Amino acid sequence: MVHTSRQIGQLTRRLTRQVAKSHSLPTRLISSCAEATAPAPPTATNTSQSYKIVERVHNFQERLKSRPDFDHSNQPIPVTKSPNPSWQFGDGAPSSNNAQSHREIDPYAADRAMVDNYRLLISGIAPRPIGFLSTVSGDGKTKNLSPFSYFQVIDHDPPMFVVGFSSRPERVKDTYRNLKETGECVINTVSESMIEAVNASSIDAPYGVSEWDITGLTEAPTSTVKASRVQESVLSIEGKVVDVKEFADHATPGMSIASLVLIKATRFWVQDDAVNEQGSHILLDKLRPIAQLGGMSYGRIGSTFELPRPRWDEQPESERLRVLGGNTEKKTS
Ligand SMILES: Cc1cc2nc3c(=O)[nH]c(=O)nc-3n(C[C@H](O)[C@H](O)[C@H](O)COP(=O)(O)O)c2cc1C
Repeated sequence: MVHTSRQIGQLTRRLTRQVAKSHSLPTRLISSCAEATAPAPPTATNTSQSYKIVERVHNFQERLKSRPDFDHSNQPIPVTKSPNPSWQFGDGAPSSNNAQSHREIDPYAADRAMVDNYRLLISGIAPRPIGFLSTVSGDGKTKNLSPFSYFQVIDHDPPMFVVGFSSRPERVKDTYRNLKETGECVINTVSESMIEAVNASSIDAPYGVSEWDITGLTEAPTSTVKASRVQESVLSIEGKVVDVKEFADHATPGMSIASLVLIKATRFWVQDDAVNEQGSHILLDKLRPIAQLGGMSYGRIGSTFELPRPRWDEQPESERLRVLGGNTEKKTS
């Protein structure tokens, strides 16, 4: 098997960690052995210099001049027909071009920069909702507020959420540190009216500086966690950490570890005028959610359409389904 120099570096570092672990040694004590065989592994200094996820943007004010103003009219979001209302089972994607060729990419290729995976994924896995997390430090002295779009609700029974923390030069994200120290947080939703403040809260402020002060957003009380919720958010979810997974296999010297945190809800807070009497439906016209897209782009919902989910037991009018089903038993999903 032929290994690239990058793979050899990764293997060496992995071995180093395994040796350290099996001998209960800190990795730094045996890192000289790794450095002797690995091809010039990145150092904290050069890692920091080559870290380009947050790019400097030049002349942004100039670029803004040619753009129309944001539409603040808050007109009801229109509901249209679906793209292909006459679609039948088996029709595929009638308005897509399936003659396009595809390029294969190895995310771990030796000559592929990590930042290319980052840019590809945030532009391709879009839109992403933004989880705006409020936490406090273990000693209770520092409050933190930061946005994360490697975020999703993953179940409702129990209500569960995931948040992914990227590695970056040196220290882990403060939110991650706080989640590990306290095991709790508030997940707040992000509406159009708050996006500048939310974006500003992503600033790489030193540990100890509160993003509440940076943003000017309003703290509101919670009942099952110490962290405050964001008053401006339509929906806030108090939650407790139920699991943490760290991705040590791609840890790079000088970079903090990448990780994923699983959070279980303990309380919901919903803006009164945005929810129905039963507390079971949030009005889109009130939520006005912001989605994160590729680069530094954000999206808003301009229109929606509805599509009833098909049920096998209602046996839709479809010769194709009839043939596919044959004499099989009907499902009850
Ligand atoms: C809209 C948006 C989404 C983001 N999503 C993530 C994410 O999913 N994971 C991550 O590690 N950083 C993400 N970031 C960057 C963090 O918000 C940023 O690193 C922040 O400084 C972390 O703050 P903390 O160290 O106070 O926790 C995002 C930034 C923005 C503006």
